[in-house]
This record gives sequence, C-alpha cells and structure tokens, in this order.
Amino acid sequence: MPVSVYATATRAASAAATRIVNVLRDNPAVVVGLPTGHTPIPMYRALVRAYQAGRADFSRATTFNLDEFAGLGRDDAGSYRTFMESHLFDHVNLAPQRAHVIDGRASDWRQELERFERRIARAGGMDLIVLGIGQNGHLGFNEPADALPARSHRVALRQQSRRANATLFGGRWQDVPPYALSMGIGTILNARRTILLATGASKARIVARALTGPVTTKVPASLLQTHPNMMVVLDRDAASRL
Ligand code: PGA
Repeated sequence: MPVSVYATATRAASAAATRIVNVLRDNPAVVVGLPTGHTPIPMYRALVRAYQAGRADFSRATTFNLDEFAGLGRDDAGSYRTFMESHLFDHVNLAPQRAHVIDGRASDWRQELERFERRIARAGGMDLIVLGIGQNGHLGFNEPADALPARSHRVALRQQSRRANATLFGGRWQDVPPYALSMGIGTILNARRTILLATGASKARIVARALTGPVTTKVPASLLQTHPNMMVVLDRDAASRL
C-alpha cells in the first residue's frame, strides 16, 4: 500500500485535503466518508481554504460521517455533528441535506442506523473515505473486539476512547457518553478508496501494528490491509516505527 510521510502533521493533513480536492474536481458529485478527532482539524482547515480560494466546490458532493455519540446531536456542544459544523459544514457550500451525520438523539437508534446505511447505499456507496485511527486501533468507533459487526451499530466505548475525546467535554472523560453509533467496518471497507490519516508520536505504535501486523479485529484498522485501494498519509512522528 502506498505510504506518504510528511515532515509535519499540518503537511500530512494538507496532503489528505489535496486528495479530496482532486477527487472533487474529477467528480463534483463525489460521495465522501469523513472522520472527526484532533487529527483531521488541519485537513478541514485546508479544505475551507481551498473552498475560499475557489479551488473546491462542494455543491454537488455528499458526505457521511463515521460516527456520533449516542444521545448527542445537533446543537449539543460535544457532538460530532457540532464538530463538523464548526470545522467544515458552516464554511463550505456543501448542501445540508447531503451532509450526513448519524443522529445520536434519534429515539430509535436501530432505525436511525438502518436509515444511515440505506442513505449510503442510495448514494451509490462511498467513492472515498478518510479515516483516523485511535490509539487502540479503532476505526470510526469500531473498537477492538473478538468480532466486529459489518454494518453500522451501537457500541460501548472503551475508556481509552472516552479519554481521547475528553477535550470535547471540558476535559472530563467521565462526561464523554459511554455509547456511540458507528459506521460498520464492512461499510467502511466498501468505500472504493480509503485514506488513513495519522499524525503524532502517540500514533506510531498503533500505525505500525495496523499496517504491518496481522489482520485482526483486535486492531480494527489492520483490516484496511485487505482494502484494494488504500493510501496512508502520515507525519514523520506517526511513521517512526514503520
Ligand atoms: P484523534 O482521533 O484524531 O483525535 O486522535 C482519531 C480517531 O479516534 O479515529
């Protein structure tokens, strides 16, 4: 698999943004899967800059976010919906009805997840998905487990994942919701192209395990090794154990 290594996290994130801009240019009606977290923030900043400079037009694009906290949604400060609005949706010309984030506040989460899967299928599947990686190897909120559901599902978050999200909740991991709704690993792997974006020394160990270790549901990101069109974008720190 092609691995690109950049000197800094910002450059790596900009490289991922450039991929998205190129894909948008080739296919304005592209369907893209998007991550949240600290890592993609500079990628979104670069995408907003590209839009402002007239280099990216999102008007026909469709996006699907990887996950959301159960119980949270629009207008909740810690929700991934709010994260996406403040980092991307509010700043580009993406049509709100085509910017899909699972509604964590849906009264029937099973129905909401089925609806989410149907929307992806109706959009013709994802052309490209950009993924982060958790320090425990999770993809979206597919946490390490003996077996992983293929389709979107509700998941109990590991304490490590809740701690990693504490900054969204005033620094208190206990305030991070214990459950999330996540795109399934099979749905992720059905995307025609995948980009894994990881930066920082804290990701070096898990990046090496995911890319060069055995393929196992105990390291969900290792399943990306089976994807036929995968690309890895790293900064030097995240690549240091490869
Ligand atoms: P991070 O999260 O970018 O905040 O490290 C990545 C992830 O958990 O997928």
